[in-house]
Amino acid sequence: MSDYDPADDSKKCYDVAISALRQEGIANGTITPWKRKEVIGDCTLYLGDCLEIMPVLDLVDHVISDPPYEASLHASKNSLSGRVRTDKGPDLKGLNFAPIDDTRGTVVRLVAETCQGWAMFFCTVEGVARWADVINPSRLKYKRACIWIKPDSTPQLNGQGPAQGAECIVTAWAGSGHARWNAGGKRGVYTHCVNGPKRHGAHPTEKPVSLMAELLRDFTNPGQTILDPFMGSGTTGVACVKMGRKFTGIELDPDYFEIACERIREAYRQPDMFVKPAPKAVQEGFL
Ligand SMILES: C[S@@+](CC[C@H](N)C(=O)[O-])C[C@H]1O[C@@H](n2cnc3c(N)ncnc32)[C@H](O)[C@@H]1O
Repeated sequence: MSDYDPADDSKKCYDVAISALRQEGIANGTITPWKRKEVIGDCTLYLGDCLEIMPVLDLVDHVISDPPYEASLHASKNSLSGRVRTDKGPDLKGLNFAPIDDTRGTVVRLVAETCQGWAMFFCTVEGVARWADVINPSRLKYKRACIWIKPDSTPQLNGQGPAQGAECIVTAWAGSGHARWNAGGKRGVYTHCVNGPKRHGAHPTEKPVSLMAELLRDFTNPGQTILDPFMGSGTTGVACVKMGRKFTGIELDPDYFEIACERIREAYRQPDMFVKPAPKAVQEGFL
């Protein structure tokens, strides 16, 4: 007996036709590729699919992004979700978005077309080579993977081997000439707790604001525009507000988008955490 299902086949044909019409509409400007756009101070946030939105954005200075991880990590995180932790750490939540495997090449192509400086992608240690494999044939110049050490990462709850204690940040240069950063000969090693006191807690893979701020300080300059096409709950944007950078963020999930908007509004309301106010002018005595 054949597996052919005419209803399923016609639904797939319908989806392909709608998607083609949508791409044509976006390309000729009759459809906006986002569902919502919020401008908050120097931050512009889009609700929608970054694969559709990035092609219509202006150029940005840098891309610093925490995309979905590989399917293997999504599977292991989802299998842990809901388990009771014995180390009093926060509850483990599953990942309700698709892994990066099928779209990584497209993401790198779009970032290469949009970015004029550093392009940086968080990933697992195992994911570094996969990012390098798609970056190397592109316009981006692969530099190296930095390491984020997580002293308080989730322990290996089944005790069957070492827990994951670090993540990587793949860095590539999209600018002209030599790559430039602000940290001289510093090693690309960043140590920040996952569950610091400033953790917001609504997103299962939230990055520490302090980590994003250190990356901004090392790789970018005040006034530049940073794009995070996978902004989740908006941590990169919060750090940009605190560090005096402009921010463009894209998020597919409406709930995370709402949280990102609220966190960025809140970041503008709070006094600066990282930017030191300029010292008050003091009248020196005349000689
Ligand atoms: C690893 S999380 C980012 C978490 C973020 N760094 C934070 O601190 O909250 C990746 C995010 O990308 C979003 N996402 C996945 N595919 C997307 C796409 N095609 N366009 C825009 N956002 C997407 C997911 O919904 C998820 O929130």
